[in-house]
Amino acid sequence: MLYQEKHRPQLHFTPKENWMNDPNGLVYYEGEYHLFYQYNPLASEHANMNWGHATSTDLYHWEEHEVAIAPDELGTIFSGSAVVDKNNTSGLFESDSGGLVAIFTQDGASQQQSIAYSKDKGRTWMKYEGNPVIPNTKIKDFRDPKVSWHEDSQQWIMVLACGDHMQFYGSPNLIDWTYLSSFGKEYPSYDGVWECPDLLYLPVENRSKKEWVLIVSINPGGPNGGSAVYYFTGSFDGKAFQPNEKPEDTLKWADAGKDFYAAVTWDNTEDTYWIGWMNNWQYAGVSPVSPWLSAMSLARKLSLYEKDDDLLLKQEVITADSDAEVISYPGATIESGETESYEIGDTAQIDVQLAKTTGNSEWGVTFTTDQDEAFRLVIDKQSNSYTFHRDQGITDFSEDFPTEVKGSLNKEAVKTLKAIVDKASIELFLNDGLSAATNTIYPEGTITQLEVFAVNEAVQVENITWTKLHSIWK
Ligand code: FRU
Repeated sequence: MLYQEKHRPQLHFTPKENWMNDPNGLVYYEGEYHLFYQYNPLASEHANMNWGHATSTDLYHWEEHEVAIAPDELGTIFSGSAVVDKNNTSGLFESDSGGLVAIFTQDGASQQQSIAYSKDKGRTWMKYEGNPVIPNTKIKDFRDPKVSWHEDSQQWIMVLACGDHMQFYGSPNLIDWTYLSSFGKEYPSYDGVWECPDLLYLPVENRSKKEWVLIVSINPGGPNGGSAVYYFTGSFDGKAFQPNEKPEDTLKWADAGKDFYAAVTWDNTEDTYWIGWMNNWQYAGVSPVSPWLSAMSLARKLSLYEKDDDLLLKQEVITADSDAEVISYPGATIESGETESYEIGDTAQIDVQLAKTTGNSEWGVTFTTDQDEAFRLVIDKQSNSYTFHRDQGITDFSEDFPTEVKGSLNKEAVKTLKAIVDKASIELFLNDGLSAATNTIYPEGTITQLEVFAVNEAVQVENITWTKLHSIWK
C-alpha cells in the first residue's frame, strides 16, 4: 500500500482527490448540513479556487457532490458563508419560502464580496447579476464574509476580515450593505493577517446567560507557528462589537494544535457547531498525502464556560457512530515513573477518566505504532501547559512540522482526556473540551497502543475506553 493511501482519514471528511482548504458556506437546510469548501478541482495545489460541496445528515458522515460555485470574470471563489433567506428578503426567490444565499469573496484584480443563490438545496447556484455587492475599497486583504441574521436589529450582519481588523456591515436584503463599524486595530495581529471571522452568540454552560464571541483566524501568528484560531468574548448591539479582553491580555486560542484553521459555524441550527481545516499554511502545500490534500477536523458543538471571571470556549466533538464497539479497561494506579499499556486502534475514540486530579502532577499518554514510533502528550499542571510531540513518522517535508506543540491548561488540573485517532491525525480534548489540540501525524506504522505514564506523582485512572469507530466511507 502506498503510504499516501495509508494516511487517508477514515473519520474525517476529505475530497476524493485534489486540494481543499477552508470550510465555507456552512448552513443547515431541510434536513442537510452543507459543507462547502475551498477546492481546486484540477490539482493538489492552492490555485483556481472553487467551492466544493458535501452534505451530511449527522455532521459526521459526508457525501461529496459536484463543485458548487466556480470562478468567473470577477475572480476565483474565496471563503465565505451561506444563509437560509427564509422570508425571501433578497427577492431572489419566487416564493416567500425563500432559499439559500451564499456570500463569498471573489479574488480577482482585487478582493470583493459577491453573492449567489440556490433553489435546489445547494446543488446548483446562480450568481447575482449585480455582483459585487461590496466592491473593493482599496484594502488589500478584504475577505471571508460571514453573515447571520441579527434578531434584535432585524437585519443581516456581515463580519469581514480586513488584514489587521474586522469590519461589520448591515443589510436588509443581503444585496445592499451599509458599513457599520470596525474592530481590532489596537489588538495584536503580529505579522499575520486576520482571516475567516465569525460572530457567535453562545450559551455560558455554568451560568444562565449568553455572550457574544468574535472568532479570528490568524496566519501567521499562531501560538505554535503558522495558522491558528483565537477568540474574543463581549457584546454586540447590531452595530459594533465590544470585547471583554484588553489589547494587553493573553490571547485565547480556540485550539492549541497546529492543524485547526479557518473554523466557522453552521448557520440556521439551534445549537452551535463548527468545523475547521485540519492543516496549517506553514506546510499545507507539501503535506505528504495524495491524491487528496487535506481533511476537515471533526465537527464540534460550542458553548462557553465561566472560570475565574473569564469566559472559555468549550468544544464537544461529534462522532455519530451508535453501534461502535466499546472496549473498557479497568481502573489502575500508575506509580510515578511507571507506564501502563492498553491496546487501541488507529480509527478510535479514546477516553481516559482519572479518579482524582493531583496537585502538581506531570503525566501523560503516548500513542505508539507497530513500528515503535511514539506520539507523546505530556500534561504538566505546574507550568499550566501540555505539550504534544510529533517528531516521529514522516516529518521531513517541512522543518515546521516536527516542532513541539504547546497548549494552555487554563489553570485546570486534567480530569478527562478524549482523543480521536484517525490514521493521520490526533484531536485532543482535555477536561470535556475546555482545552483542545488538533494535530496531523504521518506515522510509517499503525497506532496499536496507548501508554499512560506518571512522572512525579501516581496517576489514578478510573477507567479507559477504546471506542472502535467505523469508517465513515461506504
Ligand atoms: C484562509 C484563506 C482565506 C481565503 C482562502 C483562500 O485559509 O486564506 O482568507 O479566503 O483561504 O483559499
